[in-house]
Amino acid sequence: MCGIVGYIGEKQAAPVILDGLSRLEYRGYDSAGIAVFDGEAINYKKSIGRLKVLENLTRGGLDMPGFCGIGHTRWATHGVPSNENAHPHFNQKETISVVHNGIIENYLQLKKYLEKKGYVFVSETDTEVLAHLLDYYYKGNPMEAIFRMLRRVEGSYALGILFAEHPDTLFAARKDSPLVVGQNEEGCFIASDVPAILKYTRKVTYVDNQEIVKLHASHMHFYNIDEEEIQKEPVLIDWDANAAEKAGYEHFMLKEMYEQPKTVTDTISPRIRKGDIQIEELHMSDEELAAVRKIHIVACGSAYHAGVTGKYVIERLARIPVEVDLASEFRYRDPILEEGAMVIVISQSGETADTLAALREAKKRGFQILGIVNVVGSSIAREADNVLYTWAGPEIAVATTKAYSAQLTALYLLAMKFAKVRGTVGNEEFARLLNCLERLPYQIERLLNTKEQIQKFANRYLAAKDIFFIGRGIDYAISLEGSLKLKEISYIHSEAYAAGELKHGTISLIEDGTLVTAVSTQPELYQKMVSNIVEVKARGAFVMAVTGEDNREIERAADYVVYIPETAPVFANSLAIIPLQLFGYYVAVGRGCDVDKPRNLAKSVTVE
Ligand code: F6R
Repeated sequence: MCGIVGYIGEKQAAPVILDGLSRLEYRGYDSAGIAVFDGEAINYKKSIGRLKVLENLTRGGLDMPGFCGIGHTRWATHGVPSNENAHPHFNQKETISVVHNGIIENYLQLKKYLEKKGYVFVSETDTEVLAHLLDYYYKGNPMEAIFRMLRRVEGSYALGILFAEHPDTLFAARKDSPLVVGQNEEGCFIASDVPAILKYTRKVTYVDNQEIVKLHASHMHFYNIDEEEIQKEPVLIDWDANAAEKAGYEHFMLKEMYEQPKTVTDTISPRIRKGDIQIEELHMSDEELAAVRKIHIVACGSAYHAGVTGKYVIERLARIPVEVDLASEFRYRDPILEEGAMVIVISQSGETADTLAALREAKKRGFQILGIVNVVGSSIAREADNVLYTWAGPEIAVATTKAYSAQLTALYLLAMKFAKVRGTVGNEEFARLLNCLERLPYQIERLLNTKEQIQKFANRYLAAKDIFFIGRGIDYAISLEGSLKLKEISYIHSEAYAAGELKHGTISLIEDGTLVTAVSTQPELYQKMVSNIVEVKARGAFVMAVTGEDNREIERAADYVVYIPETAPVFANSLAIIPLQLFGYYVAVGRGCDVDKPRNLAKSVTVE
């Protein structure tokens, strides 16, 4: 996610803003920009690459005079990393300047509307529509223009805005993207994250959804979307700078787990329109989609596990056969790709060497590639024919959580889209599934709130030698991911098994007290899973079950049960993974492991 910093006060603004942006560098970004009112006009500089480049261009900000300004570090979403796409964005006369975090979901409609009115766009971003829309509504009163603009936009935003005609005011607004404001004796600040301004003030006010702030050098005013002035109380931040980077969480991994409701919302909601799913990025007509005969999913690690879930969901909903391959195997196995096949590669980083090589191998054979990628402008995003982005924002912890959840969500959207065009799911069922999809973020949040119980349970297994995960069908896919999460960060040996396969060998490893995590979210496989639980219990296993809220009688077979809220069985993985992530995390924390940077692992595996 991008970073925003703004300042108005007695000090020169640019050095303060650049310093604030440097405190957000750890979050990842690909370009940066700054705009300052210099007494006559809004002066700005933007640059692709590190903040250092911008600092050099402006001599640490000293070459940009002025006391009121905004700055931004961009992590590309709409449009590749480039100088044109970097923020701030402007109206044509460059009298209104905007920095934005979040996603404007209806930007294409707004862009068409504004283009018809003669507005000319210079970037590919969703943010630029905001600058032109403000220009369109601005008749001398900036607050009126902001209110009118906000009523037109759908999606999420944290905004910093400058109007050249109002050089003594800095404007800010927020919906579903974090924004804080702060004040000291020398001025007022806005920031997307506390660490950016912690050096200047520890008293910050969290801007809530659909609130607008008007900041002057010595005071600020808050408004709600109904244009009424409201009073807000600042809070005192007592975290140190290190904790502030993690928004108070102990590790990035935990912070990122808590970002999952937002990640899932961001990935779903721009693609749901009037009860239907629209995936414009596919660039395929319904007829072309309906003609797809086979799907190959290729990925590594957790992205591969998301692909295994995708196989079950696509096959069940759309009745298209799906093969899932580890990229490192696919590239050398001389795969048979028949006519009408589609290749989907999944990658958070977009740089994984094996996945990239597999993509090139499939491309060489003339196949269209769809990438499900998180990093805009990455190698896989550039080389795939079409890209369906997961809007998870930068992931810092090496063990993926939120990007994996976003990958699952992207696959659900695809499965439903295929099902719709192929007529394999009726209208009523489609509407029910859509409803379940939209409820997932709230249900994930509910599960995250059970973290204390999971932590208590995890603490009993800090000395475990082996832990097993079993499940059937979709639950096998989630077992693979649950097992990987645990072992990669806690260094406890763990294996995932298809529950029916256990008795063909692995069951001999079960001893008195061995923990077996049994995932059972699929109604038609429930009784079979209960039998598997009984089987391992008879060999002395201690069983933690993860199942739906209706399956209370599982308590007779399992020793410890985590219930997940009701959803369509095809989406259950998005919920079942939460307790498994928490379990892996707390075991690793309890064992004193370096959770965010496990030994021998890198965030992006760019070598074969
Ligand atoms: C595990 C993990 C890895 C990645 C894998 C693929 O927590 O993060 O298994 O999923 O290395 O990486 P990407 O998705 O960047 O291609």
